Amino acid sequence: MTKKINIAIDGYSSCGKGTLAKSLAKKLNYIFIDSGSMYRAVALYLLENDIPVSDVERVGSELKGIELDFKFNAQSDQFEIHLNQRNVSKRIREMDVAGIVSHVAKISEVRRFLVKMQQEIGKDKGVVMDGRDIGTVVFPEAELKIFMTASVEIRAERRYKELVQAGSDITLEEVAENLSNRDQIDSQRDDSPLTMNDDYRILDNSDLNQEEQLALALTWVEAVS
Ligand code: DC
Repeated sequence: MTKKINIAIDGYSSCGKGTLAKSLAKKLNYIFIDSGSMYRAVALYLLENDIPVSDVERVGSELKGIELDFKFNAQSDQFEIHLNQRNVSKRIREMDVAGIVSHVAKISEVRRFLVKMQQEIGKDKGVVMDGRDIGTVVFPEAELKIFMTASVEIRAERRYKELVQAGSDITLEEVAENLSNRDQIDSQRDDSPLTMNDDYRILDNSDLNQEEQLALALTWVEAVS
């Protein structure tokens, strides 16, 4: 019998981490957690309650008002994030949230708050979690760590298509700029920057389709389970 493991998938924005994580979790019958959605939900809470991100002290003290849950929706076949009992999984993808979330993710109190929740979710194994610090901070003992990359042009185009499909009238240039800004902030922040080490297997998916990525990742799962 293969043993249950935790799988950490880290990498830049819009690399397809979520798509791979979701299909791996489905194939292995594991729980899929998009940790970025947790940072986005905190960002949304701050926006809706007029709490300025720059007021780090206040942000820290307001975290106690935030309750996050993941609920499985059989109809959409995904885990949806609920902020204080409200399904916000669509709302957190909007540009106002994207515009501040990297700044929210720089705040150490926010990171500690969310990392604790993430570790709790993964304590019994059988979790695929994607983010920026999953293999370095959240699950340093994860049996499999994948670092995903793709060219910035390809990533911007993918995210642009998603946003347009969701009804946004944003331009490709705006999406590319937001992505580059977030990459820069995520990689250069002091607390848990996006980085990788020798534990990681690198998956550049610029020229790989989803089936090819899944097949490759499954060979890695097999090698460690
Ligand atoms: O993956 P995403 O674009 O939804 O992530 C939103 C933001 O949260 C992004 O700026 C990176 C940050 N993030 C993080 O700092 N650590 C994580 N584990 C996940 C996301």
